[in-house]
Amino acid sequence: MTLPALSPVDTSPIAAAAGCDDLDPLWRAIVTESRARSNDIHLPISFAFAERLCDAYPAADALVVRVAILLHDTGWARVDESKIVSEGFTGDWRKADIRFEHERHGCDIAREVLPGLGYDEDFVTRVTDIIDGHDTRPVSRSLEDSLVRDADRLWRFTPTGIALASGWFSLTPAEYTRRLRLEIVPELLTDAAVQMAEADLARSEALLKTDLLT
Ligand SMILES: [Fe+2]
Ligand SMILES: [Fe+2]
Repeated sequence: MTLPALSPVDTSPIAAAAGCDDLDPLWRAIVTESRARSNDIHLPISFAFAERLCDAYPAADALVVRVAILLHDTGWARVDESKIVSEGFTGDWRKADIRFEHERHGCDIAREVLPGLGYDEDFVTRVTDIIDGHDTRPVSRSLEDSLVRDADRLWRFTPTGIALASGWFSLTPAEYTRRLRLEIVPELLTDAAVQMAEADLARSEALLKTDLLT
């Protein structure tokens, strides 16, 4: 059962989202890491979804959620790039060694960049607790963890996410949207994320004509 939203849920296209600029120094600190595995597309889009999820769940510590989603996949920059698709997106990809590796490196990067930007040890630990296992741990540990997990998935429902991820998994856009509905929607932990996913999926399928380009 998904967590009911306590505030109105914004399901409008994410491209229209306007965020605040308080985390600009942190974005600047991870420019190099943003170049791996299209993080410079994935991280900002998932970040925008995370901000909307925080609005729907005001009890969450929004700064922890925003910083954790911003950093969660930076570790891809420190793994063997040639293995990202060959091992990270095929077979039982959630259990591939490279998945655990990118999580560990992501925690290292958080510990490297956050203290210099004024975040204390307790905050850094709350962030790394979420990054550690974000793909490989089957259960969420907290509300903040759940919002990060859902934001990490929501970007895939946009035309941009479908374009990139369908290529990673060697699927057509239509095949990939079917997988989103069958496999990814049931994994979502919050009702707000389900509403956002369904709205985006309907828009993306219509735009990409997946009923024709099957
Ligand atoms: Fe990841
Ligand atoms: Fe991710």
